[in-house]
Amino acid sequence: MQKENRPAVIQEEQGVKYYCACGKSANWPWCDGSHAGSGVSPFRVEIEKAGKVAICGCGKSAKMPFCDGAHKSLH
Ligand code: FES
Repeated sequence: MQKENRPAVIQEEQGVKYYCACGKSANWPWCDGSHAGSGVSPFRVEIEKAGKVAICGCGKSAKMPFCDGAHKSLH
């Protein structure tokens, strides 16, 4: 999946997830370790219940790593 100015809507299972915060992951929206040495850490999120989540791709959400609709103001 490629990072874009829109959310990645993905099906997640319950458990701890690490989402990319640096924008360099080849496995976006998940962290692949590409942030190493950048001073940026991935978002650690505990998904309490399996289901769909929308991960922000535009970087403007106030609820990172989740989309809050802020990308709509970019179009
Ligand atoms: S992608 Fe929706 S707020 Fe960033």
